Amino acid sequence: MKIWAISDLHLSFSVPNKTMDLFGPEWKDHPKKIAAAWDKTVSSNDLVLIPGDISWALRLEDALLDLEWIEKRPGTKVIIRGNHDYWWSSLSKVKKVLPPSIHLIQNSSVTIGEVSIAGARLWDSPEYSFDDIIDFKTQVAPHSSLEAERGKEDTSVAMKARLSHLAKEQREVDYFPQPACKRNGEQLGFEPCITEKKREEKDDAAIFQRELSRLEMSLRTIPKEAKVRIAMTHFPPIGVDLAPSVASALFEKYGVSIVAFGHLHSLHKELHPLFGSARGVRYELTSCDFIQFVPKLLL
Ligand SMILES: [Fe+2]
Repeated sequence: MKIWAISDLHLSFSVPNKTMDLFGPEWKDHPKKIAAAWDKTVSSNDLVLIPGDISWALRLEDALLDLEWIEKRPGTKVIIRGNHDYWWSSLSKVKKVLPPSIHLIQNSSVTIGEVSIAGARLWDSPEYSFDDIIDFKTQVAPHSSLEAERGKEDTSVAMKARLSHLAKEQREVDYFPQPACKRNGEQLGFEPCITEKKREEKDDAAIFQRELSRLEMSLRTIPKEAKVRIAMTHFPPIGVDLAPSVASALFEKYGVSIVAFGHLHSLHKELHPLFGSARGVRYELTSCDFIQFVPKLLL
């Protein structure tokens, strides 16, 4: 069994207006590119890890076509939630509709043979920043970099239009609707409500701390006998200099050998490769545009 990873699929089969084309020419028809590479390289006995940002859908029923697309790809898949996976609101409802080849991690782990996978979404960490490695000039990253992008001097009409679109998108998906909110008495999810349009630093710190707890909760569920321990996070768990972080300390504590993560897009090409191994843990950035839309072989 080989183990692969590819994240940030950002599928939108039910929401065709949410194509990724505005993020650069390489995103044109990106599901077709991914499917061609995945179907060619991955076998049915393999394992494919998908560390978040799976679908643009806001409602579970709108994510079904995207999940079916993943189901059609070869291999057993393990998924975690990214910051844009708003369709993933209720664990029990998501579990009910997951196609048979897709397993999820939420405060849990998945073990297949001798391999155990744990993980959590994480969040922006105050320990490191990626502003220096994102290519703001030529492309606009789908998320996390909007504020930095606004600060850059670019007066082109096209860029202004893209920024305005992204600003709207950010309000919709990052600040609204927030999961733990209740609508008509129904619990919509498990995140705290954030009603401010601008997320405050203290909110980021609180979310990050809560995500760390979730990561440790998940790592604790790895069976003692697991020989290969892999983790997935959506947000990067470490900076590019691989300096110790609170998340990296957890991976070392629980014997994790590989961590796959995503969330970063539109990185300066000349900086490839990024990340690497530190203190016994290999860190793999698997955002689909970073790995040219080809699943990355982890093991
Ligand atoms: Fe993301």
